[in-house]
Amino acid sequence: MVEPKLMTWTDAAALDDLPKARPTVVRVGTTHVLLVRRGGAVHATEPLCPHKFAALEEGTVEDGCLRCPVHDAAFHLDTGEPRDGDAWAGRLQTYPVRVEAGRVHVAL
Ligand code: FES
Repeated sequence: MVEPKLMTWTDAAALDDLPKARPTVVRVGTTHVLLVRRGGAVHATEPLCPHKFAALEEGTVEDGCLRCPVHDAAFHLDTGEPRDGDAWAGRLQTYPVRVEAGRVHVAL
């Protein structure tokens, strides 16, 4: 695993622009990333479900998981791992996130 201090951080959004507990897709360089603001934390994931590529921006956030709107698989926002019983959907790619001076930075 790459140490966080060696990662290349890219500015993704203003923290205040992110709605709470509602997935939002932003562009980070040439890549689209899904951001979820939850409590004092922000999570970053790939924007498409690993199962059949549904747009997770249309999903819901509940109990620390992001639920796909198409077949209801849920992925832990911290790790991208599918919730128990949803292993058939695969693992969601997650990215490291930091918040500094009100800006959200993502390491891709
Ligand atoms: S497309 Fe997301 S669970 Fe099937």
